Amino acid sequence: MKSVKLVNNIKNLSGTLTIPGDKSISHRSVMFGALAEGTTTVTNFLSGEDCLSTISCFRKLGVEIKQEDETLIIHGKGFKGLVEPGEILDVGNSGTTIRLMLGILSGQSFFSTLVGDSSIAKRPMTRVTIPLKSMGASIDGRNNGEFTPISVRGGSLKGITYELPVASAQVKSAILLAGLQAEGETVIIEPSKTRDHTERMIKQFGGEVEVDNLTITVKGGQAFKATDVQVPGDISSAAFFLVAGAIVEDSEITLKNVGLNPSRTGIIDVMLSMGAELTISNEHPEAFEPMGDLTIKTSNLKGTTIEGDIIPRLIDEIPVIALLATQAEGVTVIKDAEELKVKETNRIDTVVNELKKLGANIEATSDGMIIYGKTPLTGGTVSSHGDHRIGMMLAVAALLSDKEVFLENGEAISVSYPSFFSHLDSLI
Ligand code: S3P
Repeated sequence: MKSVKLVNNIKNLSGTLTIPGDKSISHRSVMFGALAEGTTTVTNFLSGEDCLSTISCFRKLGVEIKQEDETLIIHGKGFKGLVEPGEILDVGNSGTTIRLMLGILSGQSFFSTLVGDSSIAKRPMTRVTIPLKSMGASIDGRNNGEFTPISVRGGSLKGITYELPVASAQVKSAILLAGLQAEGETVIIEPSKTRDHTERMIKQFGGEVEVDNLTITVKGGQAFKATDVQVPGDISSAAFFLVAGAIVEDSEITLKNVGLNPSRTGIIDVMLSMGAELTISNEHPEAFEPMGDLTIKTSNLKGTTIEGDIIPRLIDEIPVIALLATQAEGVTVIKDAEELKVKETNRIDTVVNELKKLGANIEATSDGMIIYGKTPLTGGTVSSHGDHRIGMMLAVAALLSDKEVFLENGEAISVSYPSFFSHLDSLI
């Protein structure tokens, strides 16, 4: 197994970073640009492997997409202009690509097949295939449509009213994308508020969506108009540097143009409640996706409890919040986070096992974890297990260790943050 030596024993981090584009919004910008009529320009697109998988799927569906660095030009085809793909659609490691594509393809009368990597092959798809089948799509896959490969023949959908059994923006978005192509109205009721990038994108592209607290309604038969999309920086990527700045001694880091959509800012609330010296400036609340700059300084932290409705607002940040908690005085309890078990890895197990290897006092529970701080972190060999966020969390943990730390499977980081190591180096 290939391993790399991580930077360790760091006594100061300082500087300013512009965080790469938001992954969730980048995926959706390609999808909506493709489904709109006319030419859409996307700036600050995240050129990570996951979003490149979305581009490759749409090219196979007949959409012309030109990419130059972080700018995309998409020649949209409209909902009715996609063509039957001659090849299998490969989503790589991307859960957002496969689940949202299932929603889009459910409205298309042609045949298509989706596959992904070995992590995708284990992730549950019935959460989307069950509601999509009830709208009228023919979908099949291993274990009755639960796992890839999955094939779809869609068309002639009928709107549904659906109460989501899990708080998932991917499931909500898949049903919305199918609902936009269905006859009648589709109503979705969420158990807790999840990221609302799809709803914002529908409006940005000239469509209509009604949001009443946890109930979202769309009418079928809508058409989108091309527009320009500026993708804000990804708060889920910024999170690694927020935590690094808070736990490495003598540090001050500013992160520019970070997306501050309230459905994503749970990590800011948690860090502030733990005592972090975190400030927000240059806010642009008027943008279709709000953004601003974040500054973090070395902080004296205390433990906290993270549970309930805040969980979907920080679900992807829990690995790095667990690391943060190892450097806080007292106990941190993370509850109601069973969804971690079905992410790129089982993130309860991977976070607990890998942080333990570096000396953390952390235990797994059935729906989260308990972390006892503050503990010094030490050296060892750890693995990302092919999970980008686990890899970056461990690279931040290594900064504190006075002994060498080796990371196996570090290449997974390019799924969401190809420039992560060069950004880290620029702060040292
Ligand atoms: C995402 C939704 C979340 C999140 C994932 C991206 C999205 O997944 O964990 O990284 O772009 O809609 P779930 O919908 O499974 O909670």
